[in-house]
Amino acid sequence: MSETIEITGNRPLVGDLFASGAKNAALPLLIAALLTGEECIFDNVPNLEDVNLTLHLLEHCGAETSFTIGAETDAPTSSKNLVSRSATRPAWMGGSVRVRVPALKATEASYSLVKALRASFWVLAPLLARGHAARVALPGGDIIGARPVDIHLEALTKMGADIRVKHGVVLASAVGGLRPASIDLRSPSVGATHQILMAAALTPGTSVINGAAREPEIVALAEMLTKMGAEIEGAGSATIVVRGRDALGGAHVHMIGDRIEAGTYLLAGVATRGDVRVSGVNPKHLPVFLELLASGGVSVETGADWVRVSAPEGMRGFRACTAPFPELATDLQAPLMAALAVARGEGVIEENVFDGRYNHVAELCRMGASIRVQDRIAIITGVDKLCGAPVEAFDIRAGAALVIAGLAAEGTTVIHEPHHLRRGYEALERKLTSLGAIVGSKFQDLDDYAFSGC
Ligand code: UD1
Repeated sequence: MSETIEITGNRPLVGDLFASGAKNAALPLLIAALLTGEECIFDNVPNLEDVNLTLHLLEHCGAETSFTIGAETDAPTSSKNLVSRSATRPAWMGGSVRVRVPALKATEASYSLVKALRASFWVLAPLLARGHAARVALPGGDIIGARPVDIHLEALTKMGADIRVKHGVVLASAVGGLRPASIDLRSPSVGATHQILMAAALTPGTSVINGAAREPEIVALAEMLTKMGAEIEGAGSATIVVRGRDALGGAHVHMIGDRIEAGTYLLAGVATRGDVRVSGVNPKHLPVFLELLASGGVSVETGADWVRVSAPEGMRGFRACTAPFPELATDLQAPLMAALAVARGEGVIEENVFDGRYNHVAELCRMGASIRVQDRIAIITGVDKLCGAPVEAFDIRAGAALVIAGLAAEGTTVIHEPHHLRRGYEALERKLTSLGAIVGSKFQDLDDYAFSGC
């Protein structure tokens, strides 16, 4: 018996839905609670496997945690131009998390934890800053390509940490504490910027990060650290100045909306020639992505906290290059490719962030997509219709691409290994069903499937 997600496609998605809290903000912000003995409260936290794994890791390090689903969420600002009905945050979505770490009990993250969740590696900085020692397994590569951590280690070394790597484990110590530093990042790594921000916030004196990542999730972490007592300027730009403290207090934060989840549902609307509005997300977190959709003839409307797309005639192909924020997010590359697979004419995608992030291509081609890959470039010739097929999700965003393809395809698509989708998409089936999709999950023997042809 194995779980699959089954989609009967070829129906335009129409309606409103609410973005969940951002997974990629929730993970570093929850980890930042290790920096203080006071309670941190987080609203609008998505109920996802990656969040639960992070809470498990925090408990291992000495945290007391609770997660109350549906608690303490705010209603969105009302806005005009609703598609069909007003969007209000459903009570079943998201929740409130409380974390208090009176004392660090363990200063290690094992290989099994870091392997299950790469962001677990980010506990290195808070453990070092507060406990002055840490043992964290090296994350190694994964399915989307090589993912080294040299930038993280160089930065923490510059802050005075003694770091050795033995038997696949990073052994770090900072007897007497870390010291402030001016750090130049050779590329704007999101994870390294998170780690340096956390380390610098709990290190008295002024640290500077040059060449920092500028993603909205970095700004969200900087805002939390500011509430905890650090002084931070420049978050969201390439140079961040942090005036750290010798002790930090608790904080109460509301998680930002998930721009990648929102982008995925918007692309599902485009690929099915539908009309979808996603609320609870800041359009300024999706600048180049929305420009690209508009360049393909999609009608794009935005409000303070919502985006609506409408594409009754479908989309035209275009060229898109992934790059650090504010450019097109690499996490939207696979979902965008699924939408380009059913666009008019040719689309081109250049993946510039990860070197092996095309494992969804073969699966999309199984559904009738026409895609050629040459190194970092994928050339997508739009087809009139994709065809439902059994496919496998190799990572979160590859899974999202297959969901979009399945929604646009004739016949039935069965997605195997959907556990990847559970890591990044809260209440996926429920949200899609609210837009008119026919989608459900099943546990059954693989031999039992019959596919409708097209
Ligand atoms: C984060 C996101 C992930 C997103 C990625 C890029 C989370 C939980 N994950 O991952 O969803 O796809 O940002 O936006 O927020 N690199 C090095 N050396 C390092 C660190 C990174 O060479 O020490 C390279 C990586 O191999 C990659 C690029 O830099 O090619 C970007 O990686 P990075 O920004 O660090 O991604 P993550 O923080 O791991």
